[in-house]
Amino acid sequence: MTAFERIYGYPAEAAGEAPGRVNMLGEHTDYNEGFVLPTIIQKTTRVLVAQSPSGVDRAVSAQLAPDGGFGRYVSGCTAVLRAAGHRVPAVSVHIDSNVPIGAGLSSSAALEVALLRALRSRFSLDLDDVDIARLAQHAENEYAGVNCGIMDQMAASVGVAGHLLLLDTRSLATALVPLPEGGDICVLDSGTRRSLATSAFNQRRSECEQAARALGVASLRDVDDLDRIEQLPPPLNGRARHVVTENRRVLAAANTSAREFGQLMNASHASLRDDFDVSVPSLNLLVDCLQQDERVFGARLTGAGFGGACVALVRSGTQSLVAQDVLAEYGSFGHAGTRLV
Ligand code: GLA
Repeated sequence: MTAFERIYGYPAEAAGEAPGRVNMLGEHTDYNEGFVLPTIIQKTTRVLVAQSPSGVDRAVSAQLAPDGGFGRYVSGCTAVLRAAGHRVPAVSVHIDSNVPIGAGLSSSAALEVALLRALRSRFSLDLDDVDIARLAQHAENEYAGVNCGIMDQMAASVGVAGHLLLLDTRSLATALVPLPEGGDICVLDSGTRRSLATSAFNQRRSECEQAARALGVASLRDVDDLDRIEQLPPPLNGRARHVVTENRRVLAAANTSAREFGQLMNASHASLRDDFDVSVPSLNLLVDCLQQDERVFGARLTGAGFGGACVALVRSGTQSLVAQDVLAEYGSFGHAGTRLV
């Protein structure tokens, strides 16, 4: 008997799965209609659904208590489907996930996309994978209160294992890019938790929108001239400078060597720390420890920031040793980090 059946007393009728993601480059560019370069990770959320005989939506998680915060993602997804005119009756939902929560690996997007896939399958909804990413983003914007862009939901919905997903978040055009030759991905959690909705995420987004308005463009994607940015008052100049230089870094990184890719990652971290101001001391320390390791091509905070994980591009085959050595050094400063990927 499945956990679903034990809890609800009847079998599940459909399933959906989606992975977490790690973003290699292109941070805080997606809601500025810019470029991002995430890849999916081998951690997955699996959702089982059935039509609810009681006529009431219910959701249970194998990992989280009922008040664990996942309910708003579930009700958000069913609400956006219904608002878009899809016929979705009340459902019973069971969630099982090994995507780390609150680490910057998009556990929420994995849940939204897995659930929407399960509902598409159960109710034969006419939705393609990009539709699913868009609906998942609306659910997050309107029901979880995070004004996120579409990177995480696109990565979870159309990402392919073993490839980087180069995404133009304005046109939603995608290209699969190989990982730089000789490089592997290592993701370390700083142990500092964050919460997107309560963090300064929405504030950063509105600062970017203010900067775009002041420069007379629809979004910061349309800015190329760094001199014009310098005329903006702080902190808007730094916010805009980060977005413009980060877009350039993403485009320069696709199909480059591991060494150059790593340098772009290091520059991205400095820009997120100094211009965009989304780093915290523990992330800076962990990134420093990584960057000083000779087996590491480059390292940066990944995801929204304010805590969570760091990603590094390391010489192939060295992930375990790098993680062990770097976490020991990080630990000697009194922090408890862990390896996630
Ligand atoms: C979060 C958001 C994304 C993106 C990143 C920062 O993960 O959900 O849309 O803005 O932060 O790059």
